[in-house]
Amino acid sequence: MSGFDCAPLLSARAQSADEGIIMRMAQAARDLKARGRDVISLTVGEPDFATPKYICDAATDAMARGFTHYAPAPGMADLRAALAAKLKDENGLTYQPGNIIIANGAKQAITNAILSLIGPGDEVIMLAPFWVSYEITVKFAGGTPVVLSAGVDEGYKVPVARIAAAITPRTKLIMLNSPCNPTGAVWSRAEMAALAAVVRGHDRLMVLADEIYEYILFDGEMVSFGSLPDMLERTVTVNGFSKGFAMTGWRLGYAAAPLPVAQAMGRMQSIVSAGANQFVQVAALAALAGGRDEVVKMREAYRRRRDLVLGALRAMPGVAIGQIPGTFYAFPDVSSLLGRRAGNHVMDTVEALADWLLEAHGIATVPGTAFGAATSIRLSFAASDDDLKRALARMAEAFAALEG
Ligand SMILES: Cc1ncc(COP(=O)(O)O)c(C=O)c1O
Repeated sequence: MSGFDCAPLLSARAQSADEGIIMRMAQAARDLKARGRDVISLTVGEPDFATPKYICDAATDAMARGFTHYAPAPGMADLRAALAAKLKDENGLTYQPGNIIIANGAKQAITNAILSLIGPGDEVIMLAPFWVSYEITVKFAGGTPVVLSAGVDEGYKVPVARIAAAITPRTKLIMLNSPCNPTGAVWSRAEMAALAAVVRGHDRLMVLADEIYEYILFDGEMVSFGSLPDMLERTVTVNGFSKGFAMTGWRLGYAAAPLPVAQAMGRMQSIVSAGANQFVQVAALAALAGGRDEVVKMREAYRRRRDLVLGALRAMPGVAIGQIPGTFYAFPDVSSLLGRRAGNHVMDTVEALADWLLEAHGIATVPGTAFGAATSIRLSFAASDDDLKRALARMAEAFAALEG
């Protein structure tokens, strides 16, 4: 060993990039499990279902047929065409295949969009609680996140008037995620129309509509922001196969946008990857063509678990929770528990509460600070009924025993 230390060579970007609290909590749960502890992890947002067999079969068949080479960087022409048809039929969005860029997951699609639109001096409005990656990615691009918050009493939806008041000449993008991770909130058509009216009044403002949970909707209507009058030209629509089709590990997502943005997203993507895996794209074609029976079956299982989780959380002292119309997350507000004690452990923050739930009770959750909300914790109910029941029983007992 020469003693050379490369750590000081890391770029400022690398030094400031954070892997995120979710990954840290998931890892802490795995570490405890590896040491023999009985830990129930409700951290990571991924379906516990296997990918439907017809999609797996399509992938192996595609490999056997030689779809093992580079695909075009923005995506295969037939998948882009099939997605244009899907977006028209299911979402009322009229995109041409050229408007659609296929990426290695919705996460990369979002990164492509942010890198295409945002640079130093640009402000991006985030509606907290929000998916943690939005803020990280905007900062990574050199932009400035402007965080607006809504609490459980507002259904976790920032009123449009507050959004309108936060827009400055530097605001370029509003991040809209409906159904929302981590809260499960869903924007109604009327709420979206009110936002569209605000957006219409600004000539350098766009919306990134992240619709990745579109198929995990229990109540209400799925409205695509870009389908509202005049909004198609103002919207980057992001979606993917991870959640609805239980395909997280396949890494396939996409973004659809007006041509200049779509072309820029393609250029961003070709800098960091040569595009998405070819046989996965062929399997995605099969996923789209195969109907939605499997998607609906999984959604109904999540609905059952949603009811179970809501019932249990509502019965817990010190926990406030509203409706969960979509996604597989519960985001209970636990502000009444903050400041209370279990022996020497003081729950002065939601991080302290989440650490204690993990270490003392073997339940891994994610503190709301990861989502820009310091009074809640997130539980993923994409877990077995049995695990959920055990975790909720432990949690009820733990909260009831808090002192102070
Ligand atoms: C709101 C939201 N958008 C995007 C993603 C990323 O999805 P993908 O697995 O397709 O990258 C996630 C994943 O957790 C998410 O919760």
